[in-house]
Amino acid sequence: MVTHIKPIEWLDGRVRWLNTLKLPWDEEYVESSDYERLARAIETMEIRGAPAIGVAAAFGVALAAANYEGNNITDFKLVLLRVIERFSKTRPTAVNLFWALDRMKRVVQSNYHSTEELRESVVAEALKIYEEDIRVNKVIGEVGSKLINDGDTILTHCNAGALATAGYGTALSVVREAWYSGKKIKVIATETRPMLQGARLTVWELMKEGIPVTLISDSMVGYVMSKGLVSKVFVGADRILSSGHVVNKIGTYTIAVLAHHHNVPFYAVAPTSTIDPVSKLSDVVIEERNPDEVRRILGKLLITVPDVDVMNPAFDITPPHLVSGIVTEKGIATQPYDKTIPELLK
Ligand code: MRU
Repeated sequence: MVTHIKPIEWLDGRVRWLNTLKLPWDEEYVESSDYERLARAIETMEIRGAPAIGVAAAFGVALAAANYEGNNITDFKLVLLRVIERFSKTRPTAVNLFWALDRMKRVVQSNYHSTEELRESVVAEALKIYEEDIRVNKVIGEVGSKLINDGDTILTHCNAGALATAGYGTALSVVREAWYSGKKIKVIATETRPMLQGARLTVWELMKEGIPVTLISDSMVGYVMSKGLVSKVFVGADRILSSGHVVNKIGTYTIAVLAHHHNVPFYAVAPTSTIDPVSKLSDVVIEERNPDEVRRILGKLLITVPDVDVMNPAFDITPPHLVSGIVTEKGIATQPYDKTIPELLK
């Protein structure tokens, strides 16, 4: 599998990331040693996608550790715990953020006696989270590509590609693996209003590698399915409950309902770090973002009356009966998820 897209990297005390808000017009890389700058990059969605947010938050804690100048271990730990707290406030829905921060917290709270030792361990843990994500995504691609036949047309929503992870992607890793193993497939990407991750990011990623992609607006999904133009749906996920409920980009639920109606298999693809074995449905916080994301196109062109009331939930929840399978690095879970997901996590 080939991809040269490096959405985020650790550069020895600095972090470098691709500002996805500027894509597809500019390939702008940002470099900073300031953890607060990185936290804002998550909030504004310069960095987005569940696994990428987790990696970025871990790197943020590593930045604070690498650049700490004191030598009192108790103060150092308090500073790092405050930084972890800051990152936990950036975006509420993707569980990978909290999963990565929990790992960082465990290191911070371990029994270190020197700032030097703790600094090294914090940076090492962040790098481990980054490297694991790349490795896991490659495996997910191999596992999921078995579901794809030569000649399939895959519909995907939002961007579950390299740009949403440390590399390769989840749903798009499956697509990449199928493509590079010689299957002649095509992709239909939904534009994904309001932030246009499909139109801007999925299209950019796939065209860069010559994987055939056709863009549709979100409102065209029913039509293309009714015409028999979609073989399978593969989407990413921000949080998967042990009941099999899939929390993902707003619009996913609509696609799943349509896929069910048209007998099109619907797969969610995610690392096991996206599975939340603890939360109940009522615990899930759906992020409500700035209304101007809906009133304007990417903060610019106003497309409605300026003070109209707006709803802007960033995610929705697809119930398990609409999900044909959940593809992870540990295998594919199928219904009944309340049995197969815990089995997969063992
Ligand atoms: O708001 P975003 O762009 O962070 O939402 C991203 C998604 O919903 C993705 O589908 C999900 O994070 C999976 S990414 C591999």
